[in-house]
Amino acid sequence: MEPTFHRLTSQHGDLVLRTESFAEIVYFGPHLQHFTAQDCLSLGRPVANGRLDIDTPITLAAELGGGLFSSPGIEGHRNGLDASPIFTTCQVEQHGQTLVVTSEDREAGLRLTSEIQLADSGVVQIRHGLSNLRAVAWQVDRLAVTLPVAERARDVMAFHGRWTREFQPHRIALEHDSFVIENRRGRTSHEHFPALITGTSGFSEQQGEVWGVHLGWSGNHRLRCEVKSDGRRYLQAEALYLSGEMALAEGETLWTPWLYASYSATGLNGMSQQFHRFLRDEVIRFPDNKARPVHLNTWEGIYFNHNPHYIMQMASRAAELGVERFIIDDGWFRGRDHDRAALGDWYLDETKYPDGLAPVISHVKSLGMEFGIWVEPEMINPDSDLYRAHPDWVLKLPGYQQATGRYQWVLDLSNPQVYAFLLDRMTWLLGEHAIDYVKWDMNRELVQAGHNGKAAADAQTRHYYRLLDELNQRYPHIEFESCASGGGRIDYEVLKRCHRFWASDNNDALERNTIQRGMSYFFPPEVMGAHIGNRYCHATFRQHSIEFRGLTALFGHLGIELDPIKADADESAGYQRYVQLYKQWRPLLHTGNLWRVDMPDAATQVQGVVSCDKATGLFLVSQLAMPDYTLAGNLRFPGLDPAARYQVSLIDHPNIRVVSEGGHTMRQLPAWMSSAMTLSGEWLAQAGLALPVLDPESAILLSVKRIC
Ligand code: GLA
Repeated sequence: MEPTFHRLTSQHGDLVLRTESFAEIVYFGPHLQHFTAQDCLSLGRPVANGRLDIDTPITLAAELGGGLFSSPGIEGHRNGLDASPIFTTCQVEQHGQTLVVTSEDREAGLRLTSEIQLADSGVVQIRHGLSNLRAVAWQVDRLAVTLPVAERARDVMAFHGRWTREFQPHRIALEHDSFVIENRRGRTSHEHFPALITGTSGFSEQQGEVWGVHLGWSGNHRLRCEVKSDGRRYLQAEALYLSGEMALAEGETLWTPWLYASYSATGLNGMSQQFHRFLRDEVIRFPDNKARPVHLNTWEGIYFNHNPHYIMQMASRAAELGVERFIIDDGWFRGRDHDRAALGDWYLDETKYPDGLAPVISHVKSLGMEFGIWVEPEMINPDSDLYRAHPDWVLKLPGYQQATGRYQWVLDLSNPQVYAFLLDRMTWLLGEHAIDYVKWDMNRELVQAGHNGKAAADAQTRHYYRLLDELNQRYPHIEFESCASGGGRIDYEVLKRCHRFWASDNNDALERNTIQRGMSYFFPPEVMGAHIGNRYCHATFRQHSIEFRGLTALFGHLGIELDPIKADADESAGYQRYVQLYKQWRPLLHTGNLWRVDMPDAATQVQGVVSCDKATGLFLVSQLAMPDYTLAGNLRFPGLDPAARYQVSLIDHPNIRVVSEGGHTMRQLPAWMSSAMTLSGEWLAQAGLALPVLDPESAILLSVKRIC
């Protein structure tokens, strides 16, 4: 079979697929302006001595059977047989920027359908569907999406994390073998965000070539960056199956999750901007396209102490502060006085709410706010009426004792009775109350996830999607937030079904700076829940000024998480100010291009959003710790129009005291801070603006506005 080349193209990058008896991605890189299929023949590889006498392509399925010798994209068997498939291309269809490749292995009785799409944003989506064509089941051990990347991609970046410290980037230089991320926690996880970035040595926010991938899946996963001994490199991502979990009966098809990939020639910012644009174009849907309303969430204000009269006072106060959506968190349902009981008993606690929820909801609405409520449907406490009635509804393997997590177990969503019960209770809650918003929590990981004695973690994730899909369909005007002890379930597949993420249970503004920056690599600000918490953070017991808390929450979907009645006059004035600032700037923050700026000192963290027409930008300079140098250097602004002139203004700053002796860091502020300056976009980009040295754990906000 003669090779044929198929190109998918966008202004950001191109992908070329070679098909003959096999199918292989031979190019994923910069956009090609003078592409001809003929040119691709230059990539015909030589064959080295001392190995197989043929060339071994890194095919779409990365089959071991062809002599790949590296991590395969498919592993499995039929009672030990048919375990080394090699697929032969049967059909290739291209419709616009979508390719569908069908291939079969008639020996093994398997068919593979591969879908590859390139969006205008530059993001490539790839998934495979594996079908069993024979009567005996084919046991799937692994099914992955494999994406070859250029040999010059030598550095690897990934994210580690834990509860209250999500999205922490780390990097290595990978010269040989592989770097692997494995998640067996049953949800996307705080620990192993499903993404890998690889790029040219030393790639940074603004420089270098990078290839970034994300696996859209909210369960167990494995991601790998592989270096073959011949120097070729590839990224690989898959849902991770537990032993015996996945088998295909005759005629059944298993689809991998979607892999989302981006190539950027302009460092990490280019990658993030493509992912953000993709999500805005194709995934994120806000009912009626409405602006992201300011939240007040009751959790860190009152915890389980629900008193409707007090809550209504909180709502009144919240409305005065400019809040637009009021959410009652955990504690409203029967027996929920602490975190040790009642999950599963989704009935209103009538001792706390003797007149029902209606008076609270009406009060909230009469103040012009939306009403939201917290749930955690997938969970069950041993101390609950539900568990006493249905001890067999727990997700578990029989014969073993499971540890609880936050005193709770997980419900088995593969059990149709469990699923029907949850659908019924959520239908009661959402159908019979004027609810606009649901904070959907998930506070325990899956341990020995089993249904009828077999592993059922993958099925659990699929049933969770099904439940949320059904509720979205029934109540299209209700928005959902994905929360899992903070940022434990944040990914693109769940984003198809929700409208916001609770980024972290850690509301400490200092910690939030790094968590939110980490999250920004793959998610735009409008889906990142960011709240102003109490002056004393309950997670870390650190104390931060209202300015630092307010400015840190500004670059997300802003909310307040405290009891506004208890706040003193200064604090309240601060909440009002940042709510106002957020409302003023959210049209820009939630549509513009996000920039993380490389600074010489990591203690100074700078980010900005510039409007798509380059007319306006808002930049935040956060001082995380004491800087190494006595001067902070210049801030060079990315994303502006070099030919335009901009007015630079200081919008917000802490109570900076300039003192001549002791204390604080500065004797004299930079000139632009006392009177606004007009500068060219080119000068701002190339020379920049002298920054003040800020006290640690403080921030300033500045704007640039095109004037001609
Ligand atoms: C989890 C969430 C918090 C809060 C509590 C309530 O920890 O992440 O935001 O909702 O549960 O129990």
